[in-house]
Amino acid sequence: MISISGLYKYFGGQRVLEDIHMRVAPGEIYGIVGHSGAGKSTLLRCLNGLEPYQDGSVKVTGEEVGDLSPSGLLALRRKMGMIFQTFNLMSRKNVFKNVAFPLEIWKTPKAEVEDRAMELLDLVGLADRRNDRVQNLSGGQKQRVGIARALALRPGILLCDEATSALDPKTTGSILDLLEDINKRLGLTIVIVTHQMEVVKRLCHKMLLLDGGVTMAEGATEDLFLSLPANLRKFIDEEYTLIPNGVNIRLMFPRDISQDAVITTMARELDIGFSIVGGKLERYLDDVFGFLIINVRPELLDRVMDYMREKRLYWQILDADGDSVHDHDESADRIMNRSRR
Ligand SMILES: Nc1ncnc2c1ncn2[C@@H]1O[C@H](COP(=O)(O)OP(=O)(O)OP(=O)(O)O)[C@@H](O)[C@H]1O
Ligand SMILES: [Mg+2]
Repeated sequence: MISISGLYKYFGGQRVLEDIHMRVAPGEIYGIVGHSGAGKSTLLRCLNGLEPYQDGSVKVTGEEVGDLSPSGLLALRRKMGMIFQTFNLMSRKNVFKNVAFPLEIWKTPKAEVEDRAMELLDLVGLADRRNDRVQNLSGGQKQRVGIARALALRPGILLCDEATSALDPKTTGSILDLLEDINKRLGLTIVIVTHQMEVVKRLCHKMLLLDGGVTMAEGATEDLFLSLPANLRKFIDEEYTLIPNGVNIRLMFPRDISQDAVITTMARELDIGFSIVGGKLERYLDDVFGFLIINVRPELLDRVMDYMREKRLYWQILDADGDSVHDHDESADRIMNRSRR
């Protein structure tokens, strides 16, 4: 559906995107995350043809975006709805008129406009506010209007640029729920640009972490949060004070493995003790997963490793900086295979 490879983008002499690769399958929710100025919005604008690019390929439903004629670009943007942090609505017009606007532009028959706009307002839970002026709505309600308007022409893809950044956490949650619901119900492909990792963890099947236009991490969100590559760990500022003596081991718990059971069983079966250094449970989509860092005495390491291998656990041995120096290749494969969608 979306396939980007070797993408380079410059503004004058400034390189803002460097060798970007990403693939989004139909029906997937894909997150592009990074600090301010990372190049997230620029990447999104390359996708819908608002920005030209200098090298590489950007394909949407098989078409090279950079090669499209002006009419081809219009057709492309019809296939992609977009929502923004600032909503970009006509604030003095009413809710209905905002949603009906794209339909009217594309000369949809009047009766059809009425039906479609009301169907969309039902979908976003604002049917009873149809006559209210947008300026009188709350931020969350405005974004619901934005979503309804973005879906008016039945696009297959929804692009979201910091769509929840202006909202409080509770309202953010309800908008993310709505996006998830739309993804499931309509099979809509969604690309989300955000600086909030919470949004990615909550919603995105896959993610791309950008810094200074360069890819820091890319892949299935669950895999990345289980294996926590150094770049991702730095971004989320996950620092642990590791115990200097002994060996620090990060045990990872995918969704289907209970953390409690593993730790207590290991301690009991091996009849050894170990310290717990730290850990975290994350919410990911509808599940919980996480990791725990334990510290074992060096003379016990062989036994612990045998046990972890036998039980096919997912683990990493950490150096003093918390980087993985050794892990279970086979378990990494299993994580990858299991979470392919
Ligand atoms: N039209 C433009 N002309 C020149 N430079 C630009 C233009 N748009 C963006 N840039 C530069 O490109 C870089 C990436 O900007 P971009 O807006 O894509 O970042 P972002 O990750 O979306 O940031 P934010 O989180 O603040 O929205 C920045 O250095 C920015 O100054
Ligand atoms: Mg931006």
